[in-house]
Amino acid sequence: MADFVKITSIKSIPQGHMVGVKVEDKEILIANLEGKFYAVGDKCTHVGCLLSEGTLRGDRVTCPCHFSVFNVKDGSAIKPPAKKPLLTYDVVVLGDDIVVKL
Ligand code: FES
Repeated sequence: MADFVKITSIKSIPQGHMVGVKVEDKEILIANLEGKFYAVGDKCTHVGCLLSEGTLRGDRVTCPCHFSVFNVKDGSAIKPPAKKPLLTYDVVVLGDDIVVKL
C-alpha cells in the first residue's frame, strides 16, 4: 500500500523553484509551477545525476551533467541523451504541508 509522506512546507519552495529531497530510499524533486506542486524522480534517467542541482525553466528541468531535459509535470524526457521518463508522484497540499504519495 502506498504511503503518504510529508515532504516540506509550501513556503519553502517559492514559485518557479524546485528542491530535491530524500524520502526513505527515494530521491524526489518537488517543483512549484505557479503555485501548483509537482513531484518526479530526482535522478536523471541517463546516468543518475540529481536534476534538482540543474536548472528549472517553466515546466522543464535541465540536467546539470549532460543537459537532458525533462518535463516536471509528467516526467517525460524531452531532450537526450536521457530517453526514459522520470517516475512521477502524486502531490497533495494539506494546509501548509506538501504531501507526496510514495
Ligand atoms: S546524467 Fe543527466 S544527462 Fe546525463
